[in-house]
Amino acid sequence: MSKAVSTKLLPSGVAVLTIDLPGKKLNVLGTEVMEGLGEALTTLEGTNGLKGVIVVGKPDSFGAGADVEEIKSLQRQTAYKIFEATQAGKALFARFGKLNSIAVISGTCLGGFTELALACNYRVATSDGKTQIGVPEVQLGFIPGWGGTTGLPKLIGLQNAFEMISTGKNLDAIKAYKLGFVDEIVAPTLALARAEEILLKKNPKRASRKKGIKQWALEDTKLGRKLFAYGARNAVMAATKGKYPAPLGALDVVMKSYLLPADKAAELESRTFAKLAVTDISKSLVGLFFAQTESKKAPSSAKPSIDVKTVGIVGAGVMGAGIAQAAAFKGYAVVLKDIDQGALDKGMEVIKDLFNDLVKKRKLDRSTANLMMANIKPTLVYTDMAECDLVIEAVVESMKVKRIVRAELEKAIAKDFVFASNTSSLLIKQMGEGARDETRMVGIHFFNPVHKMPLVEIVRSSSTSDDTVAVAQSFSMKLGKTTVVANDAPSIVVNRILVPMMREAFVLAMEGVSMEDIEKAARDFGMPMGPFTLCDEVGLDIAAHVTRSLHGSLGDRMTPPAVLGDFEKSKLLGKKGGKGIFLYGEDGERKFDIQTSGWGPFKKKKKLPVYNPEVLEMLSKYSKPTKKSADEIQDRLFLIMVAEAARVLEEGVIDSTSQLDLAMVFGCGFPPFKGGVLRFADSEGLPAVVQKLDYLSRVRGDNYKPCKLLVEKAASGSNFRQD
Ligand SMILES: NC(=O)c1ccc[n+]([C@@H]2O[C@H](COP(=O)([O-])OP(=O)(O)OC[C@H]3O[C@@H](n4cnc5c(N)ncnc54)[C@H](O)[C@@H]3O)[C@@H](O)[C@H]2O)c1
Repeated sequence: MSKAVSTKLLPSGVAVLTIDLPGKKLNVLGTEVMEGLGEALTTLEGTNGLKGVIVVGKPDSFGAGADVEEIKSLQRQTAYKIFEATQAGKALFARFGKLNSIAVISGTCLGGFTELALACNYRVATSDGKTQIGVPEVQLGFIPGWGGTTGLPKLIGLQNAFEMISTGKNLDAIKAYKLGFVDEIVAPTLALARAEEILLKKNPKRASRKKGIKQWALEDTKLGRKLFAYGARNAVMAATKGKYPAPLGALDVVMKSYLLPADKAAELESRTFAKLAVTDISKSLVGLFFAQTESKKAPSSAKPSIDVKTVGIVGAGVMGAGIAQAAAFKGYAVVLKDIDQGALDKGMEVIKDLFNDLVKKRKLDRSTANLMMANIKPTLVYTDMAECDLVIEAVVESMKVKRIVRAELEKAIAKDFVFASNTSSLLIKQMGEGARDETRMVGIHFFNPVHKMPLVEIVRSSSTSDDTVAVAQSFSMKLGKTTVVANDAPSIVVNRILVPMMREAFVLAMEGVSMEDIEKAARDFGMPMGPFTLCDEVGLDIAAHVTRSLHGSLGDRMTPPAVLGDFEKSKLLGKKGGKGIFLYGEDGERKFDIQTSGWGPFKKKKKLPVYNPEVLEMLSKYSKPTKKSADEIQDRLFLIMVAEAARVLEEGVIDSTSQLDLAMVFGCGFPPFKGGVLRFADSEGLPAVVQKLDYLSRVRGDNYKPCKLLVEKAASGSNFRQD
């Protein structure tokens, strides 16, 4: 008998079925819960005089979706087996609908649990503000497969259902009530009693479910549905660029099943689910989700010994100001130090603007923003940092300066504290030589802009303690960041693997390949922007500095392309300087040429970026224009990343292949549907990757040479990712 599900018969003849997965904070849907539900249903179906069933979860978790481990093992099966499993799940849920059942939703209700609630005859949500109802399956590359894709449109309408399914966004209790997903919102303490009453009297006080004229026209007429499907398809294509098949699969099922009999609709849903679940895209997305869950595990099970309350930031420049704002936004007291009053004032202005933006976007109210702002103390002296539990230095990239900062902090802070560096390229071990406590030194590497970039690399040297890593990790996670832990190495993981691709883009351009073809090939591969756009965003000076620094530490394969020197001579900085590879207007926005074609209603406009003629002139002196196919360009740009990622692994910079992939997706936008650099290499086939790199190294030089680990893996027929 499963311990995850229990039942209790009330004197009224109504039973309470409780899902409470033992030993877990959240309920997850897997074999244990499904078996428990099956057993409980059999008992209830055999209970004489049963008047109904109230389904409840844990107090704060009706259920957080499917068990990822079980999704992964399901994905190893054939599409037909998945189809059968999906049909069986649906058949189980359907038994709730025959028992006069009600789901009492409290806290998270996601994925399969939303479908379980949907299968009940009634649903109520508790009014404690914690309710979140959603079907996030598309984010894993498939669709809700246990009745959600077919059932939601019937309950809340085609448009609302498709929005919910295709975006994976959650509903709070009020929205769920307004849309008609839940019948009532009830106080937590009265929820059971009211649920019992609804079952016995069948008297839910629902919001009106009458459709307005527009909704009626779009959903209940043939032409309207066609129009809706056309618009929805265009919106999906614009959002996904056709790279993610799940939302389109959902649209197909939503539209076709709307008019189908229940059994045919269920079959179509299960078939589509199975087809999507076995794709590489879905496996990549599930792999990333799993890696994200793994990344939350601390290096030791003990709670970090320092409870960070006050955070010190040294350096109020681009990064320091961003980190200070992110920390204050999450409620930390912050002391922000610089050596220059002007820089400090500028940093505080930047922080104020970031808070103002949040107020404008209604993510924060004005008074809270003011309080958070007041929680940042700008200063020019170290003595103001005496109470800091964690200090992150974000001063200029100089070992000498960073060591001085560390020594000053040791004088100013008497208590045990963690010293973290935001360095992009220097070694933590060297920075800590002679420190008061080397075990308390760690890297916390944020990405620019801090408020937008979701990744933080936590860097441990050979001296850093597990406890210090845990402090750094827990702080970064409280800031809402995804963390990956890496070992101390030049440029850590993300920049080290990304820079060779950016470098390669310039090498290709110097060979005469058009920059637009390179940009397009990268975007078509799935990158959020082309390498030249990225360089202009980062700053051409910074790109040159990082490449030079990697050249210094890793040798000739990172030699800065000569054209970067030309940019420096001409003082081209990129976006921040108004011109770089592209040209920018006074408002800082990129300039475009608008090309029109066609006429009348068929007129089409195309936006073409304006490349800086100075840059075109500089490149022309290296080679004559030449043409390469998108495949050739993509091989050059992305296989060089694979080669470097393999070296990063070989050198032990990071221990886990899934964490490396997670870092590349979250740190530089490597396409999530490819699952990361290593998973991409696996799906290309490692022997093919090695063959291409070998060829390139013969015709273009040693820097394409695959490392020993990559060659061995290819020869032994294994993959990087074992999941
Ligand atoms: N800019 C990026 O994209 C980026 C991304 C990740 C990491 N980093 C790293 O973050 C660090 C800071 O970079 P940034 O771009 O913010 O630099 P920045 O030049 O914008 O800011 C540096 C600030 O440090 C101040 N400063 C210099 N010496 C100081 C000292 N002794 N005490 C106190 N303040 C001092 C300067 O006045 C300046 O305000 C560097 O280590 C860099 O490698 C930068």
